[in-house]
Amino acid sequence: MTINPVFTDATPLSTVSPEEQFRDDVLVGLAASQKFIPAKYFYDEIGSDLFESITQQPEYYPTRTEIGILEAFGSDIASLLPSHANLVEFGSGSTVKVRRLLAHLTDLAAYVPVDVSESFLRSEAETLSRDFPHLSIQPVAADFTRPFTLPDGLSDGAVAGFFPGSTIGNFEPPQAARLLAHFGRVLGRGASLIVGVDLVKDKAVLDAAYDDAAGVTAKFNLNLLDRINRELDADFDRSSFAHRAYFAPETSRVEMHLVSLRAQDVSLEGRRFRFSEGETVHTENSYKYTIDGFRDLAAEAGWDVAKSWTDAEGLFSVHALTR
Ligand code: AVJ
Repeated sequence: MTINPVFTDATPLSTVSPEEQFRDDVLVGLAASQKFIPAKYFYDEIGSDLFESITQQPEYYPTRTEIGILEAFGSDIASLLPSHANLVEFGSGSTVKVRRLLAHLTDLAAYVPVDVSESFLRSEAETLSRDFPHLSIQPVAADFTRPFTLPDGLSDGAVAGFFPGSTIGNFEPPQAARLLAHFGRVLGRGASLIVGVDLVKDKAVLDAAYDDAAGVTAKFNLNLLDRINRELDADFDRSSFAHRAYFAPETSRVEMHLVSLRAQDVSLEGRRFRFSEGETVHTENSYKYTIDGFRDLAAEAGWDVAKSWTDAEGLFSVHALTR
């Protein structure tokens, strides 16, 4: 068993650098008739801090509810995982959630956090190894949506995945099914997967969760324009855009947009993009599932649902999948 974290290099299978990919994605999104920017670009350093503070807002129930479920049912969840398993967390971010599982997984062979941010992985792995000194931590710097290889030298024990936070909700349902199938391939035969999924609920509760009174989600949304200005050659005037977020029951998703408050031109990498007054840039979809709806999605991706847990109010769900 390794005690010190082992830093495995990313296995880049794409030749495009993250900077080029960002530029290309923004250029494509702004040229579309409904302008859009992929939600994954929220998370630069400032955006990640703003997201942390969103999770502290009274209206934003998902994070504290999921942690409550992991706390209440942690030993039940852990008991469904094979012993001596290797636990792979997709898009690990902070270790707040996995700690609730680790507390019940005393015989874990290794914990493998997978995240694009290498520096973040390093600092989180270091604090985690202080609290779990006997745990083998083997971080992988990679984009979990793309094919990547697990570190060499994982024990032959079964592999379990952990995908909390309802990040699955950021994907269009067919892509979400493809992602779950992809996790199955990365984890290999006999794998299990623990997934956190936000649930459909009253529109007023959802609208408030994505438009908190303190305006933190608005800042988070608008930071995307600042990030584009900082990292690409662009001249967005953030004061002439406003945050808009609402639950659309027809599609079962919360949509976030940036609304242009006036007719304006923005130049970006030598190109000009025209905005009419009221025109929006669609910045995020956050799909909400019913328990049965998510079970169907998992089944479509080749997983069996072993068990599902929710909080008393039925706000959020955690599912144990096997294959
Ligand atoms: C991190 C994708 C789960 O959809 O609730 C929070 C992101 N966006 N507030 C979510 C988010 C606005 C969050 N996820």
